[in-house]
Amino acid sequence: MQYENALHAIQDITAKEKDILQGIVDILYQHFNHYSWVGIYLVKDDELVLGPWKGPQATDHTNIPIGQGICGSAAASGKTECIDDVHDDDRYLACFISTRSELVVPIIKKRQVIGEIDIDSDIPHAFTLDDTLFLEKVADILKEHI
Ligand code: SME
Repeated sequence: MQYENALHAIQDITAKEKDILQGIVDILYQHFNHYSWVGIYLVKDDELVLGPWKGPQATDHTNIPIGQGICGSAAASGKTECIDDVHDDDRYLACFISTRSELVVPIIKKRQVIGEIDIDSDIPHAFTLDDTLFLEKVADILKEHI
């Protein structure tokens, strides 16, 4: 019984941590009309694995090698990628036909990229410096929950 209770308590805590990531994704999606799809990728070994996401449809890109696409580039460099028009970027991995611009903000903990926030917009040039600065603050909060 003691083992069972402790296990349940641990499972509850784990579930809450997952809820926090999903909760933040949901808030981002709901608060900004120009955020057409919002996801969090987590670094596992040498790839990015899709975690919680919110948007009109699922992406096929659930696993992205570090270094590939806009997401993989941001993970490799540790720098935010703000793409005004995805059609002009050769690195772009197409997920949704409607996407025109993309913002990827790495989540950095102890100088390591541990994940990233990926936002697709159906509007070209959708993201400003305010979006970048805001999402870098969100990434800073997220790092404590990964
Ligand atoms: N477009 C991204 C892939 C992820 S989807 O946008 C959800 C890229 O080029 O890395």
